[in-house]
Amino acid sequence: MVIEEAKVRSNGRLAQGIYTMELTAPVIASSVQPGQFVNTLISEGWFPLLRRPMSVASRSDDRIGLIYKVVGAGTQAMASWTPGQQVNLLGPLGNGWTVDEGTFPVLVGGGVGIAPISFLHEELKDHGIEHHLLMGARDGSEHYLQHAPEENITLTTDNGTVGIKGTAIDGLKVVLNLLSSNSVTIFGCGPPPMLVALKLFVNDQGLPCQLATEEIMGCGFGICQGCSVELKTDVDHHQPSYRQRFKLACIDGPVFWAHELA
Ligand SMILES: Cc1cc2nc3c(=O)[nH]c(=O)nc-3n(C[C@H](O)[C@H](O)[C@H](O)COP(=O)(O)OP(=O)(O)OC[C@H]3O[C@@H](n4cnc5c(N)ncnc54)[C@H](O)[C@@H]3O)c2cc1C
Ligand code: FES
Repeated sequence: MVIEEAKVRSNGRLAQGIYTMELTAPVIASSVQPGQFVNTLISEGWFPLLRRPMSVASRSDDRIGLIYKVVGAGTQAMASWTPGQQVNLLGPLGNGWTVDEGTFPVLVGGGVGIAPISFLHEELKDHGIEHHLLMGARDGSEHYLQHAPEENITLTTDNGTVGIKGTAIDGLKVVLNLLSSNSVTIFGCGPPPMLVALKLFVNDQGLPCQLATEEIMGCGFGICQGCSVELKTDVDHHQPSYRQRFKLACIDGPVFWAHELA
């Protein structure tokens, strides 16, 4: 983990409400793994006080890419950053995905969860590892890829304007039915309702699945305890230690096995 003065190379709209930024950040780029994130410093002043966590969406040579949705003051400020501007990043933070080459990876991304999923998709391609990429969105305008199931890319939309009509979980059921391999690992990231639905589905089906959680964070490196994630535990709730019942998304995650989570 380092603090690095990065330089914005490009910053612009990728799809409806979604932006992408490329930054020169050689130190972070040299070690970041898919699933890890950086904390962007929005202001040198008091507002917004906290850095904003952003998953790394790509890496090439000395650069990293981010994909972000404007939801409030911090991301609004990020959208105004211009090429050449120097910005302060803390990272890489958190753990990353664990790929077991003995199973077929199925990647499921929704909303801004496409960032860590895109990074994993590119890394698997670079290593020649066959996999399926499934992206969910409410509407076709939020997608930036083409629906191409024959090329292992499936899109879903809630309103059916692109790809399979339905949620990412509906799409996942279709993809799993078509797959010849019966040994898969699911990798998922997306908005909280999608993560809950995905967790319930994979746990019910007994499928191995890693989920990248996006808990609201304070420090990003284990000090403030603001990002606790409750674990599934059989231990009597009056007895267990805090660490037996909770993990911290920023240092133990943000990627967790779905079967571990409450
Ligand atoms: C590990 C991690 C990785 C993330 N990666 C990405 C990413 O790649 N792209 C992206 O667009 N966003 C990502 N997020 C979410 C992003 O950090 C928040 O959207 C951002 O901090 C909001 O800042 P803001 O000042 O614009 O909005 P705020 O004014 O702080 O909040 C506006 C709204 O966004 C919600 N919000 C705030 N923080 C989070 C959060 N951490 N997760 C979910 N909702 C939040 C608030 O509840 C509120 O409703 C990630 C979060 C985490 C923890
Ligand atoms: S964000 Fe501070 S401990 Fe995780």
